[in-house]
Amino acid sequence: MESLKLGGMLHDRKIESTPEYMRKLFIMPDSSDRFVEFGVHLLDMIHDFFKEKGGIHSSISMEDLAKIFCNIEMPSQPQLIRDVLDEIKNNIIKHSVKVANPYYIGHMTSAIPYFMILLEMIAVSLNQNQVKIESAKASSFVEREFLCWIHQLIYRNSTEFYKKHIQNPKIALGNITSDGTVANLTALILAMAKAFPPDRKGFRGVRVEGLARALDHYGYRQALFLVSKRGHYSICKAGTILGVGEQGIIRVPVQPCINKIDINKLQCIVHKIRKEDKAVGLPTKFVALVGIAGTTETGNIDDLEALSEIARDLGAHFHVDAAWGGGALLMDGARDMMKGIEKADSVTMDAHKLLYAPNSMGICVFKDIDDSRNLYHTSNYIIREGSVDLGRFTMEGSRSFSCLKPWAAVKIIGRHGYKLIFDHARELQKTFVEFIERDTLFELMNKPELFIINYRFVPEEFRTLLKSLMKNPRRNSDRITAINKVINALNIELHKTIRDHDMSFVSRTRLESTRYAPRKIVVLRAITINPNTERYMLRQILNEHRNMGIRLWNGMKKTCQETMGILAAAS
Ligand SMILES: Cc1ncc(COP(=O)(O)O)c(C=O)c1O
Repeated sequence: MESLKLGGMLHDRKIESTPEYMRKLFIMPDSSDRFVEFGVHLLDMIHDFFKEKGGIHSSISMEDLAKIFCNIEMPSQPQLIRDVLDEIKNNIIKHSVKVANPYYIGHMTSAIPYFMILLEMIAVSLNQNQVKIESAKASSFVEREFLCWIHQLIYRNSTEFYKKHIQNPKIALGNITSDGTVANLTALILAMAKAFPPDRKGFRGVRVEGLARALDHYGYRQALFLVSKRGHYSICKAGTILGVGEQGIIRVPVQPCINKIDINKLQCIVHKIRKEDKAVGLPTKFVALVGIAGTTETGNIDDLEALSEIARDLGAHFHVDAAWGGGALLMDGARDMMKGIEKADSVTMDAHKLLYAPNSMGICVFKDIDDSRNLYHTSNYIIREGSVDLGRFTMEGSRSFSCLKPWAAVKIIGRHGYKLIFDHARELQKTFVEFIERDTLFELMNKPELFIINYRFVPEEFRTLLKSLMKNPRRNSDRITAINKVINALNIELHKTIRDHDMSFVSRTRLESTRYAPRKIVVLRAITINPNTERYMLRQILNEHRNMGIRLWNGMKKTCQETMGILAAAS
């Protein structure tokens, strides 16, 4: 039996694997002190991780990590909980990424409020399954209340509407999902069901009969979805799952630097498809038009108002992917930036992004609550017809009580608190942009809106030259391309060096939508949402990147003779 003293020396005693021991693992220890001791030990471990100074990533190599986790056989004998906790501490916590570090400004999730850890413990302890009321009583009502808040944040219907529907079990104001990917999928499944509904001619709807029969029945040659080139790859995954394939997702170009969907090009694409329809003699069904409120790579927001009108003209479902930007609606001025979001038939939002909940939880809300019936499923053993189970309206089956965290966060932080957090993020964004624009060795590569800044290091020799070549981009096209090739390689190296040095972290992507479009340009990507990041840290980060860039360029120059030749010829 396990009876070790916590905090004491490690035991090498074996555990007797008996039915009695197994049963005991499933109930609270007889002495509540013991449970609390375990808890305190665990929290200490977590706390140590946060207090630890040093880099963001541990220095262990991937190869060595692979060596630690390469036991082919599942363990057959039970181990002491304490021993496994030690293993977790030494092999997992120690080598985890310190995403809360204020110098970690490269991804969409970073620090979370400490109370989230405690809320997670509650959610896990209760182990509710949101699929059905039999396993999720109060939590089902909490989820509906939370969905009402998000619905109201986006659609701002009347108080009467929300009073009537906040706990209406006959419909769903939306879905809580595992993540933004599933939230987008949910919206597009719904769009598909609406595009090919059951009818009086005996067609039982695409949900029952599938896409091939739906196209045949309605006389369409194809079903298509429209989204900008900045659309998240989850939209492509949805295309695969829904049977239109990735080819069924038409990716519309964006305006350079601004990264908003190019409305003219969208209309041209639709016009071209309509022309092809005429030639073929069968129309295309545009199932959904997806607008983005905060693109993953650049944080920019599409013209949602214009898109809503185009979607209406096309007879398409209008979905807004606000996985990134949705939470920012709590910020002053964000509603203007996302004007038209209230016209979306459905909206995705991630709680683990700008609501600062832990990974991961998505939300998808529906403008017309009757749309939720398109997701309706029942089963004889749970989610029965006439039940009040949340699972009747969700794509996913078993789900944790994940919404406890953003639900409580909205109370603890409050709308005003979120506003302050976003004011800080906006201030950091402004500061970082200023630092970049004032520095002759950096180039700002997007027009930041929602806390995402794209930039790159540009050697002194290239800066003025590129500027003058860009005055006549057609004539100088080859030179511009050659120079950008070198700068791309340099920025990839710079990014690797930043990662190796490990005192700060920004991410990296490649965009076709900069001022050098259609050339693909490597950019660094900073996201200024960590509430612990301060102005002076941004200064340090950029100084560090600057010095690295200079060093790298000095080493690289000699190997870039050809481009240097072009440079010489131009000057
Ligand atoms: C705009 C957008 N949509 C969808 C997603 C997918 O969300 P998740 O990673 O939660 O599945 C992301 C993730 O970054 C995103 O930025």
